[in-house]
Amino acid sequence: MSTKLLQDKVAIVTGAGRGLGEAVARAYAAEGAKVVVSDIDAAAAQKVADSLPGGAMAVACDVRDSAQVQALVDAAVARHGRLDIMVPNAGVARVAPLVATSYEEWREVTSVNLDGVFLCIRHAAPAIIAAGGGCIVNMASVTAKAACPLIGSYAAAKAGVVSLTQTAAIELRAHKVRVNAILPAFIDTELVTSHIPEFEAQLNLPDFGAVVAQRQGRYGKVEEVAHLAVFLASERSSFSNGSGFVLDGGISSSLL
Ligand SMILES: NC(=O)c1ccc[n+]([C@@H]2O[C@H](COP(=O)([O-])OP(=O)(O)OC[C@H]3O[C@@H](n4cnc5c(N)ncnc54)[C@H](O)[C@@H]3O)[C@@H](O)[C@H]2O)c1
Repeated sequence: MSTKLLQDKVAIVTGAGRGLGEAVARAYAAEGAKVVVSDIDAAAAQKVADSLPGGAMAVACDVRDSAQVQALVDAAVARHGRLDIMVPNAGVARVAPLVATSYEEWREVTSVNLDGVFLCIRHAAPAIIAAGGGCIVNMASVTAKAACPLIGSYAAAKAGVVSLTQTAAIELRAHKVRVNAILPAFIDTELVTSHIPEFEAQLNLPDFGAVVAQRQGRYGKVEEVAHLAVFLASERSSFSNGSGFVLDGGISSSLL
């Protein structure tokens, strides 16, 4: 008997061409899942898919586009016959004070980070229900709980993801679909590292890394997030539903 936690489960991970999504895709594949690697960057998705043990399916998808998300779900079901797990992970950030944020920039962030999660739930849930139940694991952020200057649009979208997680969990419970969210703090990915110079310049910080070291000990590792994503997609978390799991090295528990 297999001891793998996700043996033969069919899972879609969006934004899986790099960073956290890639790590989740790798962890799911290692636990026996048939992973559909999706990203707006088709080449990145294909590269990750090709590198998974035994190969995997890659599907290009912009999560802002309802028809593309539906097509992603359809492609997964056409290839594997079912869908058990959806991980709406794709996200973007822009660094600017609210009063210097244009409406277009606001929409750029909220359309990926909030609308995209809605569309993934909206289109994946019927397929997961048809499979007899399963899990949705949303990638929120600890910024849903506490403000971080310069990323107000991002934080508002992530707070929306936590709310969507709760509503979807309650609405889908009778259909045996569990919905939870992960709320990481600063994890070492391009999303964070590419914006460090802007944070340092706009907040007049000499060393953003020193702030992270003081507030959360160190950067989180993508694998540490992936471990939680495996737990939330597996039967090990069978009584978890509608919850947001903070993964932050203590940053949201500390005044200094
Ligand atoms: N890195 C962190 O510290 C951190 C903390 C909390 C939450 N998160 C969340 O984790 C998720 C992944 O973040 P990451 O750090 O790996 O970021 P990343 O920038 O390294 O990767 C994001 C991926 O999403 C893809 N993407 C962007 N727009 C897309 C779209 N419209 N449709 C489909 N794919 C799209 C990108 O091509 C990229 O491959 C995001 O939702 C992010 O908000 C990250």
